[in-house]
Amino acid sequence: MKKILVLLLTLSLVLLLVAACGGGGKEAPGGDMDPNAAAGKALFEQTTLEGNPGCVTCHSIEPGKTVVGPSMAGIASKGEDFIRESIVNPDADITEGFPAGTMPQDYGQKLSEEQINQLVAYLMTLK
Ligand code: HEC
Repeated sequence: MKKILVLLLTLSLVLLLVAACGGGGKEAPGGDMDPNAAAGKALFEQTTLEGNPGCVTCHSIEPGKTVVGPSMAGIASKGEDFIRESIVNPDADITEGFPAGTMPQDYGQKLSEEQINQLVAYLMTLK
């Protein structure tokens, strides 16, 4: 009899833990984003990225909030090709009001094709 009680207690504890950690809905990493974009979000939020400062150290995703570079809010409207070019060849098109050469120039060499695709997929969710 006692054994069953202990078992039940353990079981409910486990269930509680699972509920607390797992079922976060929108709090879960990436939420309902596609897996590629979710991976890109995680990359974007790293403070260092393959030996360079990470995107988040210079870019906010809040509208109008300039950190070092322009906010990424609404960046999707500029299109996938523009976003990709801005990452691999940042000085090709300088955003008005910002100096050239601030953004690390070698993400194109340091990041894999897959990582770049993921970052682009994430930024394309920022409508
Ligand atoms: C050291 C600061 C810095 C880091 C780190 C950085 N950026 Fe930038 N970024 C800038 C600056 C400054 C500009 C504006 C000048 C320009 O266009 O190059 C910019 C421009 C951009 C633009 C074009 C924005 C527009 O509205 O035209 C995109 C997209 C972008 N960055 C994405 C990224 C991504 C993705 C990362 C991470 C892989 C990153 N940046 C890391 C500073 C940074």
